[in-house]
Amino acid sequence: MYTNVAVRSVTLLLTCTLLSDAADWCYNRSSSDTCDDWGDHYPKCKGKSQSPINIDTHSTKVNRSLDNFMFEGYDEILSDVQMVNNGHTVQVLLNGKNLSVNGGGLDGEYIADQFHLHWGNRTAPGSEHQLNHAQLPMELHIVHHKASYGDLNDSLSKPDGLAVLGFWIDVGKQNTNFDQIVDKLHTIPNKEERANISNFKMADLLPSNCELQNYYRYHGSLTTPTCNEVVIWTMFETKIHLSQQQINTFSTAVMAEGDINLINIFRSVQPLNSRTVQHSQAQSLLLKKTIALLSYTHTHTHARTHARTHARTSYANKRTSL
Ligand SMILES: *[C@@H]1O[C@H](CO)[C@@H](O)[C@H](O)[C@H]1NC(C)=O
Ligand SMILES: *[C@@H]1O[C@H](CO)[C@@H](O)[C@H](O)[C@H]1NC(C)=O
Ligand SMILES: *[C@@H]1O[C@H](CO)[C@@H](O)[C@H](O)[C@H]1NC(C)=O
Ligand SMILES: *[C@@H]1O[C@H](CO)[C@@H](O)[C@H](O)[C@H]1NC(C)=O
Ligand SMILES: *[C@@H]1O[C@H](CO)[C@@H](O)[C@H](O)[C@H]1NC(C)=O
Ligand SMILES: *[C@@H]1O[C@H](CO)[C@@H](O)[C@H](O)[C@H]1NC(C)=O
Repeated sequence: MYTNVAVRSVTLLLTCTLLSDAADWCYNRSSSDTCDDWGDHYPKCKGKSQSPINIDTHSTKVNRSLDNFMFEGYDEILSDVQMVNNGHTVQVLLNGKNLSVNGGGLDGEYIADQFHLHWGNRTAPGSEHQLNHAQLPMELHIVHHKASYGDLNDSLSKPDGLAVLGFWIDVGKQNTNFDQIVDKLHTIPNKEERANISNFKMADLLPSNCELQNYYRYHGSLTTPTCNEVVIWTMFETKIHLSQQQINTFSTAVMAEGDINLINIFRSVQPLNSRTVQHSQAQSLLLKKTIALLSYTHTHTHARTHARTHARTSYANKRTSL
C-alpha cells in the first residue's frame, strides 16, 4: 500500500501539469463521495476571486477594449497529440505545438498548453460556468500561459499568468470533428492511460472565427486545486454542439481510480464578490448600429460613419488566422 502511494506520487510529479498535485483531491461526484473541502488543504481555494462563476448576462458590462482574438497555429493540422486520462479529466496536451492567442483584450501573447473537458453524467449537466444560473452539458477549457513569463509553472504565480478560453458544449447534431476524441476515450478508460490523436485542427473543434467575437471576460482562478487566482477567463457566447451520444460517452467510457466512472467533474460556482463580468462588443452589433445611423443621419455624419465601418472591416479581415 505504501509502495502504491509512493509510485503514484512519482508518476504525478513526472506528469506534473495544471491538474495534478502531489497531494490528491477530489470532486463530490455522487452522494457516496465525501471529499474534503479544498480550502482545508489548498488555502488559495478560499480566495475571493475564485472560478467558476455564474454569468448573469444582464449584469455584464460592455468593454470596448475586448477586441477580436487572433489565433496562431489553431488552423494547423496537428499529429501525434497526446490525450491523457489524468484521473480528474481527459486532457489533450498542446505544449510544443506552437499554438497561441493574442488580441481579445489580452496584454501580449499567450501560448496553449492543453485543453480538457468537464462533464456531468447521463442525466445531469456538467459545465463549470453557469449561464443565468443554468449549467450546460459540458465545458471545454483551452489553457494558455503568458509567453513573456516563461512556462506554465512560471505563470502560475502571476495575476495575469494564464488565459483560459472556455466554451460551453450543448446538445446538437453529431459533431464529426470530435469523433476521434470521443472514439479514443474507449482506449483510455483508466487513469494515466494515453492515446494519440492525429490529423485535426484546433479550429475545427471550435465555433467558426466570426462566431468568436462575442465573449464574457472576468478575472478568476484555476477551477481545481491549487486554485491560483491567475486566470483571465474568456467564456464564448457561441456554444460547441455535440450529440447526446457523444456527450454520454465521456461519462460512460472514462473511469477514475477504482473502476468508478468519472462523472460530475465540475466545481460548484463561486461567489462573484467585488468582480464584474465584462462583455465584448461584437462587430455585428456595431455594424447594425452603424446601419441604423446611416439611415437616419445627414450626409456629413454618414461619410464619417462609413469611414469608420470601413476601417473596422479591414481590421477584421486581417484577423482570419483561425
Ligand atoms: C463535499 O461535500 C461535503 C459535505 O457536504 C462538503 O463539506 C465538502 O466541502 C464537499 N467537498 C467539495 C470538494 O466540494
Ligand atoms: C514551433 O516553432 C519553433 C520555432 O519557430 C520550431 O522550431 C518548431 O519546429 C515548431 N514546432 C512545431 C511542432 O511546429
Ligand atoms: C477593459 O478591457 C481591457 C483589456 O482587457 C482592460 O485593460 C480594462 O481594464 C477593461 N476595462 C475595465 C473598465 O475594466
Ligand atoms: C447524475 O448526477 C445527479 C447529480 O449528482 C444525480 O442526481 C443523478 O442521480 C445522476 N444520474 C445518474 C444516471 O447517475
Ligand atoms: C514552479 O514555480 C515555483 C515558483 O514560481 C518554483 O518555486 C518551483 O520550483 C517551480 N516548479 C517547477 C517544477 O519548475
Ligand atoms: C503515440 O505517439 C508516440 C510518439 O509518436 C508513440 O511513442 C506512442 O507509442 C504512441 N502511443 C500510442 C498509444 O499509439
